[in-house]
Amino acid sequence: EEKDTNVQVVMVLGAGRGPLVNATLRAARQAARRVRIYAVEKNPNAVVTLESWQYEGWGAQVTVVPRDMREWRAPEGADLVVSELLGSFADNELSPECLDGAQHCLKADGVSIPCTYTSFLAPISSSKLYNEVRACRERDRDPEAQFEMPYVVRLHNFHQLAPPQPCFSFQHPNPDPTQDNSRYRRLSFRVEVNTVLHGFAGYFETTLYGDITLSIRPETHSPGMFSWFPIFFPIKQPLAVRAGEEVSVAFWRCATPKKVWYEWAVTSPACSALHNPTGRSYTIGL
Ligand SMILES: C[S@@+](CC[C@H](N)C(=O)[O-])C[C@H]1O[C@@H](n2cnc3c(N)ncnc32)[C@H](O)[C@@H]1O
Repeated sequence: EEKDTNVQVVMVLGAGRGPLVNATLRAARQAARRVRIYAVEKNPNAVVTLESWQYEGWGAQVTVVPRDMREWRAPEGADLVVSELLGSFADNELSPECLDGAQHCLKADGVSIPCTYTSFLAPISSSKLYNEVRACRERDRDPEAQFEMPYVVRLHNFHQLAPPQPCFSFQHPNPDPTQDNSRYRRLSFRVEVNTVLHGFAGYFETTLYGDITLSIRPETHSPGMFSWFPIFFPIKQPLAVRAGEEVSVAFWRCATPKKVWYEWAVTSPACSALHNPTGRSYTIGL
């Protein structure tokens, strides 16, 4: 009944060069609803494109905000926040920290798209990937540092040893009053063949809204979507696994106010080294 008077406030958080602003305008037109949009973007190079779109097409309906979403004090609450901050392992581009930092912009009953996301891990055997990672050794760095970081990679020559299992999950708005995004998870996979473990393939699934999902997990992969490749977490020493044995791995998501990193260690059938302790080889800056 209110559709001619009610104006929904939509904030596109991390608007980039504006595709989600255009999608929001298109959706509002199709649904015959009025919207007022804030396009928040911290990268000054992308802001130039947003400002030109605003000047040439969007007009007063869109306000470009050249700010970090965590610091911006919005002039009004949002009914809806829309973002595209996910990486191949869901939270590895720091969507949880960014969206938690912007949660104060959202009305109490406001909605986030996406509303949930989960990373997945599966043990894999791939001597090809192992050797390619080994070759990434660099001078002036620990000789094994290249095994303590993940790689976004289109997986070809590999054998997945068991189906992927869920690892870390996040929800927006974040119901946790402490907004602690550090995580720990131990996963066990039964392997049915004699093989060699070289690391873990990572995937993600997300629910945008209601029953609308996106996925790069092979079992539920969104048809035709090629925006994200899987991620590969190597291990330093290949590990022999016998048919019927369990591969267990512990994964940590560690977070400080300045950076986030993952640590991982195989605990069965034999213990590996702890990879990337204290983020010594790889961190993601906030
Ligand atoms: C994966 S890109 C998506 C951009 C957009 N969908 C596009 O295709 O152009 C994420 C965007 O979020 C922006 N971003 C990341 N963290 C941000 C923050 N804390 N505040 C504002 N913008 C941020 C980045 O600069 C980048 O433009």
